[in-house]
This record gives sequence, structure tokens and C-alpha cells, in this order.
Amino acid sequence: MIIAIDGPAASGKGTLAKRLAAHYGLPHLDTGLLYRAVARVLMDFDHKLDDDAAAVRAAQALEPSRLDDPRLRGREMGEAASVVAAIPAVRAALTEWQRGFARRAPGAVLDGRDIGTVICPDAQVKIFVTATAEERARRRFRELAGRGETVTYETVLDDIRRRDARDSGRSAAPLAAAADARLLDTTSLDIEQAVRAAIGFVEAVR
Ligand code: C5P
Repeated sequence: MIIAIDGPAASGKGTLAKRLAAHYGLPHLDTGLLYRAVARVLMDFDHKLDDDAAAVRAAQALEPSRLDDPRLRGREMGEAASVVAAIPAVRAALTEWQRGFARRAPGAVLDGRDIGTVICPDAQVKIFVTATAEERARRRFRELAGRGETVTYETVLDDIRRRDARDSGRSAAPLAAAADARLLDTTSLDIEQAVRAAIGFVEAVR
């Protein structure tokens, strides 16, 4: 069983994916980490983020151990990731990795932006998670403040709006719900309610 979870930044898709993976005993891949890791390699080797050739080389040579780098979780890495993620050849270089993960028995949970549309179009379960930009900004702000990052709510909201526009507006695999995805708006749901709704979607097709 492949469960594909897509949605914009801070929609709750990552937490939901983790919880579903634990519930069904499936491995989980946070595909945003791949793009974050490519951006990190560029920064570590002093390449500009718009150096397409260097980004493609970094994607092709990406070592799995790079996904464990705690620096990938920072606020500025999401922004940097969305820049390299708009490069079609970077996406192409990371496609097989993601599909290989999804093919592992007995299945997998993958979360990202294009899992249901491009990476696993045949996934048995597709969920598109949304929430208003303001609610997502509130969640991300609380999370960052909890980690000790000094940032204002307004800055986080600006980040989220900019990232939404870039992810939805790019020509290569833009953020979009697959035609056969179930929509899950988490704006007024807590995590337990969202998990219950998602399990309901999975059970409906099992
Ligand atoms: O999900 P996360 O916020 O970690 O993703 C960081 C960035 O990576 C996103 O803003 C998006 O541009 C890119 N991404 C993507 N496709 C995915 C996962 C992430 O383009 N499947």
C-alpha cells in the first residue's frame, strides 16, 4: 500500500504522514528533505542557489546520510529548497530515489508536493492536506519559537506565502492536488482529528 500525502508548507502533512506510517507499520519518506539536502550541499560548497548545473550534480550524487543533517530543518532551508526544487533536472535526478522507496514492500508513506501527481500516480491512497496560510503560519511560528529561533509571525507568514507562490507557480511538477486525491482541510482540526480523518480515507480503500 502506497500512501501519498501532498500539501503546502506547514499544512500538517509531515506529522500526518509520520502518524499514518506508525499506524500501518510502513516506512515514511519526507521528500522535502531531499530538496533541502540539495540546497544544503550548494550552500556548504559556496555555490549560488541558482547555479542549476551545481544543483543537478548535487541531486545526482546525493548521499542518503545527508538527510539526517539537523541543519535541514531550519527556516531558511525550506526557502532554499523551493528554489532548487523548481529546476526540472533536479526533480528528475531525485525521482528514482523516491519511487524506489515507494516500491519497498509492504509499502510506504511519502509526503511532499508532487507525490500523488508525479512520483506515485498509482498510489492507492492520495491525500491533499491544506489549511489557510494564516493558520499554517501560526503553527510554523509556534514550532520555530519552540526551537528557539527568533522570528516574527509576520515574517513566517511572508515566507509561507512566497513559498506557496513559488511551489504552485513553477512549471515543473507544481504543487497541486491529484484529480483522485481526497482533500483534508486541517484549518480547524487538531492533529488527532486530522489523523482520524486520514485513517478514514485509508480504510475506505483497503
Ligand atoms: O516539505 P518541505 O517544506 O520540507 O519542502 C521544502 C521545499 O521542497 C518545498 O517548498 C518545495 O519547493 C520542495 N519540495 C518539492 N517537492 C516535494 C517536496 C518538497 O518541490 N515532493
